[in-house]
Amino acid sequence: MESMGDLSRTHYCNDLGIDNVDEQVTLMGWVLRRRDHGGVIFIDLRDRRGITQVVFNPEINPEVHAKAHRIRSEWVLAVRGKVEARPGDMANPKLETGGIEVLVDELRILNVSETPPFPLDEDGDVSDNLRLQYRYLDLRRPEMAANLLVRHKAVQTIRNYLNDKDFLDIETPMLTRSTPEGARDYLVPSRVNAGRFYALPQSPQLFKQLLMISGMDRYYQIVKCFRDEDLRADRQPEFTQIDMELSFVDEEQVISMTEGMIQALFAETLGLDIILPIDRLTFDEAMERFGTDRPDMRFGMELVNLTGIAAKCGFKVFRSIADSGGTVRAINAKGCSVFSRKELDVLTDYVVQFGAKGLAWVKMKEDGEWQSPIAKFFTDEERAEIAAVMDAVPGDLLFFGADTSKVVFQVLSELRVELARRLDLLKKDDFKFVWVTDFPLVEYDEKEKRYQALHHPFTAPRVEDIDKLESDPAKVYSRAYDLVLNGTELGGGSIRIHEKELQAKVLGVLGIGAEEASEKFGFLLRALELGAPPHGGIAFGLDRLLMLITGSDSIRDVIAFPKTQKATCPLTEAPASVVRKQLTELHIRPDWKE
Ligand code: AMO
Ligand code: AMP
Repeated sequence: MESMGDLSRTHYCNDLGIDNVDEQVTLMGWVLRRRDHGGVIFIDLRDRRGITQVVFNPEINPEVHAKAHRIRSEWVLAVRGKVEARPGDMANPKLETGGIEVLVDELRILNVSETPPFPLDEDGDVSDNLRLQYRYLDLRRPEMAANLLVRHKAVQTIRNYLNDKDFLDIETPMLTRSTPEGARDYLVPSRVNAGRFYALPQSPQLFKQLLMISGMDRYYQIVKCFRDEDLRADRQPEFTQIDMELSFVDEEQVISMTEGMIQALFAETLGLDIILPIDRLTFDEAMERFGTDRPDMRFGMELVNLTGIAAKCGFKVFRSIADSGGTVRAINAKGCSVFSRKELDVLTDYVVQFGAKGLAWVKMKEDGEWQSPIAKFFTDEERAEIAAVMDAVPGDLLFFGADTSKVVFQVLSELRVELARRLDLLKKDDFKFVWVTDFPLVEYDEKEKRYQALHHPFTAPRVEDIDKLESDPAKVYSRAYDLVLNGTELGGGSIRIHEKELQAKVLGVLGIGAEEASEKFGFLLRALELGAPPHGGIAFGLDRLLMLITGSDSIRDVIAFPKTQKATCPLTEAPASVVRKQLTELHIRPDWKE
C-alpha cells in the first residue's frame, strides 16, 4: 500500500465541471466501477459527494496504466491528473461531472478491498440483514449518503430556527427514572445501588417541565429516546426527538412557532413552500371522517355514517349491530366497481386482521342496480338513500363496516389507506399536513379496567371541562395537539398542568393514588408547589420527518446505524451476552441456562 505522501486533495468528486478543464487536480476516494475499453481504463471514483470518471491511457502514461490494471471495486485511491472535457458523444448527462474526466498521471493505491459482500453500484436485491451487517458499506451508496446529508441539513435548520427564537439547547439525563410515555422501559441495573435500576428515557418529558420551573423559558434538545415496543417501519427502539418546551404560552403559540420550524425545514431540504397556517381537525372530526387520529389527507374516500339507515334495514347483521349501540359506516371507492371477486376476497382477508367480521360491498351498476351479496336485504328506497348519502354513481364500489365504533373506525381507516395504495393515490412528493386537536384526556382501558392518559398524565384538561374530571372523565377533552403528515404522526404535545392540585386530581382519575404518585413522580409534584409557570411543548420524531422528506419506506433508511425488526444490530451483534462476573457485579442472579 502507498501513502498519500505529498498529495493533498484539491476537490471532491462532484466538484469538477467544464470550468475546471485544463486544471491539475487531486481526488481521493473509492473505486465504484472499473471498465477496460481496448486498453484505456475508466474508473468511476466515488467519495461522499459524488463521482468523477478518471482515465488511464496506456499511450500517455504506460506506467500508471499498468498499475491501474490491478485495481478492483472499493479500493481506495489518490489520483492526480488534468481535467479534460469529454468528447460530445461521451458526455454523461446523468452525472453531475458527466461533462469532464480526469486524465491520470499519478496514481497511489491507498488501500485494497476484498470483493464487497454485495455490489455497491447497483440497486440489487440485497437482504436488509446483510445491509445492516455491513452498514458502513451500505452507507457508501449515494442514496444512503444523501439521506445522511439531508439529516444533517435538517438538524442544522432546526437548530438555527430555534436558536433564533431564543431557545436554549439543554441536555437531560440518559440514566434516569421511568417516564410514562406508555411503552416498556429499557432498564439499566445499578452496580453501586444493589437491586436498583435506571430507566433510559422514553422522552425528556419530566426534565423539560422541570426546566420551565427553573425559569429556562424556552428549551430544546435533539435527543435520543428509548422505548421497548413492537417495531414497525416507523418505529425504532431508539429514535430521535426534536423536543421542546416553552413557558407562558398557550396552544396557539406552540402551534405557530412549530409551523414556522416545519416551513423552514421543508424550504431548506426540499425547496418546498408549505402554506401556513396548517389545516386543523379536532379529534372527533378526524375519527368521524377518517376513522383515525392520524388521517392521510392526500385523498378523500371519507367515512359515511349509515347507522340510522342500518337500524331499519332488512339485513339482520347490520340491524342488530345498529340496535345494540354499534355503528355501521361505509366508504366509497370511486370508479372501483371493476374490482374482481378475487380482489374483493383479498381486501376482506386484509381487514380481518383489524378485527372485521366481514366486508360487505356493493358494486354500482350502470342501471343504478346493486351488484352485492347484501343487495336483497335493502328496499329500493334504502338503496337510493344510501347511494345519495354516499355520493355513489355507477362504477363506484362501496364498502361497509358494522361493529363497535372502535373496530369499524380501525377497519375502514386501514381499508381506506390500502385502497389508496392500490389506486396509487399515495404520492410521496405530495405533502399534506394536518393538526389534530382536542383529544380526549383519557380513554378507558378494558383490559386494565381503568382510564389511561391519551397523551401522558401531565397534559392539561381543557379549562371548561375540569368540573367533569371526576364525574365523567371520558367526556373531558385535553389541550393536546398532534401534527400529522400523510398519515404519519410526526409530533405531539400539549399544554401541561402547572398546578399541583389539578395534577393530583388527574393522576387520581388515572388510578394513580397519592402514594404511587409520590413514589413515581414526587419530584415533579413537589416542583409544582414551588412556582411552576404555565407551560407547554411538543416533540417531533426527527426520523419520521426525514423518512417522509427523503421518500424512504422506513425510518431505518435515515438512521446511520439502526436496529432490525427484532431490535438487534447485525453489525455489532447487540444485544450480546455478558460474562457471569458482570451480572454478579450488577447484583443480577444469573439463573438461566447458558
Ligand atoms: P410522543 O410519545 O408522541 O410524545 O412522541 C413524540 C414523537 O416521537 C416520535 N416517536 C417515534 N419515532 C420513532 N420510533 C419510535 N418508537 C417513536 N415513538 C415516538 C413520533 C411522535 O410523534 N414527551 C412527549 C412530547 C410532549 O408532550 O411534548 C412525547 O414523547 O413522531
Ligand atoms: P352473510 O350474510 O354473513 O354471508 O354476510 C353477507 C355479507 O356481509 C358478506 O359479504 C359479509 O362479508 C358481510 N358482513 C358480515 N358481517 C359484517 C360486518 N360486521 N361488517 C361488514 N360486513 C359484514
